[in-house]
Amino acid sequence: NKRTRIKELLKGDKIGEEVTAMGWVRTFRNNQFIAINDGSCNANLQAVVELGTQNEETLKRITTSASVKVTGELIASLGKGQQVELKVKTLEILGDSDPEKYPLQPKKHSLEFLREHAHLRFRTNTFGSVFRVRHALAFATHKFFNDKGFLYLHTPIITSSDAEGAGEMFRVTTLDLENLPRTQDGKINFAEDFFGKSTNLTVSGQLEGELGATAFSDIYTFGPTFRAENSNTTRHLAEFWMIEPEMAFYDIEDNMDLAEEFIKYLISYVFEHNHEDLQFLESRLKEEEKSLPQDKRSEFGLIEKLQFVLENPFERITYTEAIDILMASPMYKKKKFKFEVKWGIDLQSEHERYLVEKHFRKPVIVTGYPKEIKAFYMRQNDDGKTVAAMDILAPGIGEIVGGSQREERLEVLLNRMQEMNIPAREMDFYLDTRRFGTVPHAGFGLGFERMVLFVTGMTNIRDVIAFARTPDNCEF
Ligand code: 4AD
Ligand code: MG
Repeated sequence: NKRTRIKELLKGDKIGEEVTAMGWVRTFRNNQFIAINDGSCNANLQAVVELGTQNEETLKRITTSASVKVTGELIASLGKGQQVELKVKTLEILGDSDPEKYPLQPKKHSLEFLREHAHLRFRTNTFGSVFRVRHALAFATHKFFNDKGFLYLHTPIITSSDAEGAGEMFRVTTLDLENLPRTQDGKINFAEDFFGKSTNLTVSGQLEGELGATAFSDIYTFGPTFRAENSNTTRHLAEFWMIEPEMAFYDIEDNMDLAEEFIKYLISYVFEHNHEDLQFLESRLKEEEKSLPQDKRSEFGLIEKLQFVLENPFERITYTEAIDILMASPMYKKKKFKFEVKWGIDLQSEHERYLVEKHFRKPVIVTGYPKEIKAFYMRQNDDGKTVAAMDILAPGIGEIVGGSQREERLEVLLNRMQEMNIPAREMDFYLDTRRFGTVPHAGFGLGFERMVLFVTGMTNIRDVIAFARTPDNCEF
């Protein structure tokens, strides 16, 4: 296979060489010019077929999205719009694409429409850029943690614990749901299940991650997580990917520093490696916003916005300060918030967005949340009311990171679990980390799709994951 990727061919240093390209037809003009794309970049390779050659018969079969193999000399382009073109010597159709049945038209399709064509949406410029950026962010994640000496720990997908205690779990069972086996007192008899107990898809790899951190010092997980929350929003998926670093000997300050450094690293990595994709996404966004009234359009371009995030420290405030800011806001005074604001509430997305988009106009790290609205494992502060939690809120997104310093004191943790009715018996695997050489430790979870949204400027989370799983979509 002597194929060269189109991205390589377009660099121009192969001019004069005979090369082979393979890809899918984007457009076909004047019965002579074939624009071929292979997904390595948004730019197409122009293949020029000279009329009167044996290729003329084959040309009749060139249609949008047919797959082709072209061989010939790469020459400096005569036409405008591209640097190089391929002078076709041989043209081969690998697979036809029937224009009568082809679902896409040569016009702009809505993102919603494209979502229904999971295969062909990958062949559009928008999704080409989105998924190349997504790939780069995943690669950069591994690079970031690897360079820091973190160990990549694979935590299980099937678990019997509910890490977040929010009860948003998908059950996993081999039992026949139509005919559930019962114990004498009428309860479901999980002893007959393959796992012998009630199991679910993981909502987070954190608890297992803590076992790793309290042995390897620094670990991270990066895998799919599942939430059975019935929210059809532009920010929630039932299946999403999460990156969860967990560090021994870290306190909440160290945790915030690492999270901020990580987010900035991801942005700078994409700046360096995906500049053309970012430029395309920025122009796409501008185009999209043309239909909005002037005051709803972004003041700054996507790249400028990311540059600003990169160059400025995130704001750091306490939950109590956040509530004070919200209560002093014109929104609050004019009763424009839908949800109540007072100390003790869980911040709603309208509150988070006010803080980051209107008040601070940059990412904000909120710490010291009331313990009642946070998970059992978070370290209690001396005030007895708050915990060492930290959420990072991003403009246009809301919560992008959730994390905390963990409660390393066995007695305090056991008391909190009792208060929250979490049976300690089933948590021995976890509590052992506090029994045998417990240490201060901390960690966080970055919602990967929310990070992809942030960097690409896309607005619906369904558009930054290859196969979205939401309550309204699980086609295949
Ligand atoms: O705040 P969450 O629930 O925190 C945890 O799961 C902790 N165990 C993380 C840790 O400390 N190791 O989720 C973390 C992040 C959120 O900030 C959000 O970005 C993302 O995961 N997230 C979702 N993303 C898409 N769809 C959903 N349904 C999400 N739920 C959470
Ligand atoms: Mg959270």
